Amino acid sequence: MKSRPKHDFSAIDRILLDEETIQRRVTELAARISADYAGANEDGLVLVGVLKGAFIFLADLARRLTVPHHVDFIALSSYNRGAVSTGAVRLIMDTRIPVTGRHVLIVEDIVDTGYTLEYLIRNFRARGTASLRTCVLLSKPERRKVDVPIDYLGFEIPDVWVVGYGLDFADLFRTLPYIAGLKREVYEK
Ligand code: IMP
Repeated sequence: MKSRPKHDFSAIDRILLDEETIQRRVTELAARISADYAGANEDGLVLVGVLKGAFIFLADLARRLTVPHHVDFIALSSYNRGAVSTGAVRLIMDTRIPVTGRHVLIVEDIVDTGYTLEYLIRNFRARGTASLRTCVLLSKPERRKVDVPIDYLGFEIPDVWVVGYGLDFADLFRTLPYIAGLKREVYEK
């Protein structure tokens, strides 16, 4: 078997959320979502994961749901490079499952300025879903530029660039099982 990709651990400042803490919270979120959607129609729930950052969170969450559900993905881009937000959101890949008249739950890794989630909510509202909610693993409230509703939230974190559990920096660190903050000099260059 191939060895795991090598990460440059010298870029990491500290672990903010360890594997056990994340897994416990994901289990709690899945239980709440399962209870809330227990009465959903037989078409069930459509989980829309936002690529790439939400792929691990969505995989763990979906496998713990006890209600019928479909899995789909959408890909967006909200940053030109590094950690500099432009506020502009671009749709790169759309969902394939029709969502009109269905219960949609947007699954996002992190809400920072809020521009991405605001765009998604507006976009899905226009498609006439039966209901629309959001499930977000991490939120950085200090960085918010626009107010967005988060129905299911994993954790609030401080204003640091985090990696791991799906989240990246320059497409690295996604497969770490924990969430770590990078050293400020790494992302504020
Ligand atoms: P927003 O539009 O500013 O809320 O940013 C949302 C997107 O920015 C997320 O889906 C992530 O892709 C990315 N992002 C924001 N903060 C971080 C971070 O600390 N680590 C990794 N990605 C982040």
